[in-house]
Amino acid sequence: MSRITVRTENKRFPTAPNLYGIFFEDINRAGDGGLYPELLRNRSFEDSIEPKDCHTEQDGYALVSRAGWRDEFNHGEGLSRWIRKNGTPYTPVPAWYTNHAQMCLDRDDTLNVHRQVSLAVAFEKGGELYNTGFCGIAPKEGARYHFYMFARTETPVKVSVSVEEDAHEFGKLDFLLEGDGYVRYDGSFAADGDGRNARLVIRCPEGGKVNFGFCSLMPEDTYMGHGLRRDLVEKLRDLKPRFLRFPGGCIVEGFSPETAMQFKNVVGPVWERPGHQLMWHYRSYNGLGFHEYLQLCEDLDMEPLYVCNCGLTCQGRMPEFFEGEELEAMLQDTLYAIEYAIGDKTSEWGSLRAQMGHPEPFRLNYIEIGNENSGEVYEVRYRKFYDAIRKRYPHIRLIANTHLEEKGLQADIVDEHFYSTAEFFAENTNYYDNYDRKNPKIFLGELAVVRGWVGQLYGALGEAAFLIGMERNQDVVELASYAPLLENVDYNAWFPNLIRFNQRESIAIPTYYVWKMFGNSRGEDVVEADVETGTLYRPVKGMASLMGQAGLRYRNASWNGTPVGVTHELMGRVKEEEGSSCILPPDEEQRAEAEKLYRVDKDRVFAVFGEEQVTSGTFDIDIYAEEGREICLGVYSGRMPKEVYMADETHPPKEWNAANVKPFVWTLENGVSTFREQKFPSDRNLDEERIAELRYGEFNHFRYEVDGKQMKLYVNGECIHQVNVPGFPSLSSVVCDSPSEVIIKIVNMSPEEDAVEITLDCQVEDAYQVTLLTGEKQAENSFEEPEKVHDVLQSHSGASSHFYYTAPAYSVNVLRLVKVQDCCTEQ
Ligand code: AHR
Repeated sequence: MSRITVRTENKRFPTAPNLYGIFFEDINRAGDGGLYPELLRNRSFEDSIEPKDCHTEQDGYALVSRAGWRDEFNHGEGLSRWIRKNGTPYTPVPAWYTNHAQMCLDRDDTLNVHRQVSLAVAFEKGGELYNTGFCGIAPKEGARYHFYMFARTETPVKVSVSVEEDAHEFGKLDFLLEGDGYVRYDGSFAADGDGRNARLVIRCPEGGKVNFGFCSLMPEDTYMGHGLRRDLVEKLRDLKPRFLRFPGGCIVEGFSPETAMQFKNVVGPVWERPGHQLMWHYRSYNGLGFHEYLQLCEDLDMEPLYVCNCGLTCQGRMPEFFEGEELEAMLQDTLYAIEYAIGDKTSEWGSLRAQMGHPEPFRLNYIEIGNENSGEVYEVRYRKFYDAIRKRYPHIRLIANTHLEEKGLQADIVDEHFYSTAEFFAENTNYYDNYDRKNPKIFLGELAVVRGWVGQLYGALGEAAFLIGMERNQDVVELASYAPLLENVDYNAWFPNLIRFNQRESIAIPTYYVWKMFGNSRGEDVVEADVETGTLYRPVKGMASLMGQAGLRYRNASWNGTPVGVTHELMGRVKEEEGSSCILPPDEEQRAEAEKLYRVDKDRVFAVFGEEQVTSGTFDIDIYAEEGREICLGVYSGRMPKEVYMADETHPPKEWNAANVKPFVWTLENGVSTFREQKFPSDRNLDEERIAELRYGEFNHFRYEVDGKQMKLYVNGECIHQVNVPGFPSLSSVVCDSPSEVIIKIVNMSPEEDAVEITLDCQVEDAYQVTLLTGEKQAENSFEEPEKVHDVLQSHSGASSHFYYTAPAYSVNVLRLVKVQDCCTEQ
């Protein structure tokens, strides 16, 4: 049983007005064919074109940047697993196929200077060209669709354009193509039936030659008529988001200069916007551009939060750094973007906004300088951008990617990203409790459970516990968003994503409902509340490992008295010597492997013993002690649950690698013993430093005993450390109020229901409402069961200044208690 004691009289601070927002990045084909509901894939015919600073290898499979970053390309079709899943037949022009016609890309005769090719088609009589869309086109009965194309012919050519599945025609348009140069042809139709896997067919009954410059098929019914897919925007609206971070993410940085995001490429008439390759393995046509994001913000009453490229490409993908004129141009590009958003309609870029139908300025109060950039290369660029933007637009709150205040630079807000396990989030519910309030505010720009309970209820509970901690610190955390937002299930490059869609429907993962529940229940002030609850322990597994400097000698390793050997040489090789073993330095193969892994020290060794599926037992080992050489032992050396993202299938990381094994680290050096946890962003001591006398020049006996809750570490029979396995509160809670109500958020991570004793310092009415999210630990939503886990609104009774509320096992609960007006202190 847990207890919550609430003191509404003690207001801590006002709730942060913009706390809950959304982060949109074009990943998983979230943009074209998704939020931007273009139904034709490769509408500009450019998908197979390599960015100019990249080349292809392995017969078109890989795209390789000038700096050497390899990404899956497959002639512009994208990830290999998409091709396999969808059985996509090869075509030189992705998504386009012909019957009784020949097609080829024409690089000379293009619609405008921004288009790199047109599609030249020679139709035989009755010949056809067709597009298979984003894994099929799915017309909806009665819905209207708008088609347009730019085409050029030497002599008049008759074509029909229809949407068809098997023998059924959902709608058809007839055009006579004629005239000088490229001519635009438009038409619309209402679908006479429901389709799932239709295609757009351009048929030429009499034959002829046509150059297609650009084409499009879009539903006419979009959210507020502003061109975005209705069901997706409705799902976003229901979150009550207060801001939109856009356009990324890594796509802002790109993996080469040409693939870096630039504002001027994503405004103006859509057929004049250059497309570009995204690092999520496909090309964007940029129809969803700067204006469209700002419009969406206006439609959903969100603050736009624009992330600009600050003169470098993705630092995790073999970066390039812009200097001189190139860097200057990037800065100008950002200043132009700001002018487009909020400049007067007579200004250069403000007038383009007016031409696009929005003479009044939009809002723009947040700019993030770079995405996930760090180090000196970032600092110099950040300073340049900061100074220039601050000078011209002092009202804009500027967001840094790292804690640059530590380097003496100014930032209003720092963006922190967390991708981890449910347990990590639950353990870190107090993460910001001791944050120095003098430092910049925090933007939790990206957070998600990406290992373990991915996309399942328990993952959402871990995140919810973290959000509870964040709410308790919303005097410093100003903004927060989950990442990523959207996923076309047929083109999944990253998992999990908040909302998943196919061509017809969309569903949400359990986390969505947490953000919806929390975003819709804000209150005005965070009030004092104490929580008493139990502890749950982090699941741990695996035996021991030896780590640290090469040359460590050991013998007689055993688990529960049975001899055990090294099962995984993650860094360094074990060499058997007479009567003992020695770990030699990493070889070339291991060093090359480590190069590709995240934060792996190539000069240290790392060897794992025995079985992975063990939690309790005793490990014994004799290690030779030498003065000046540290001894480093890992406790619980199992692998972390797998992450999903992988850029290049032909070079997958090994199942066992030095980046995905993170034991607790026991180190003995110069007579001092430390026991620490490897933790982001820095390690944490699990216990105080202790004196541990070693007998140098001989083997010393090391032992540890573990039972999943406690770890006891011994040297030569003496217990040096005795610590608990890290854990987290079984129940977390935050309380906010307003003059009329008290809102209590409760997350119960435990497998048991919890009869929570709630004590309040004010009177509340008997009847109250609860929004509840609960289910089985591993429960998840699917297209077959889209709402297996979702928020449920319940009416309860029995509230008073002292009452019990039963929080079901594995649940998120938002209680809304109505204050009895004449008894409550109004502020
Ligand atoms: O959200 C997916 C990616 O994760 C983002 O593009 C990037 O910022 C982060 O590394």
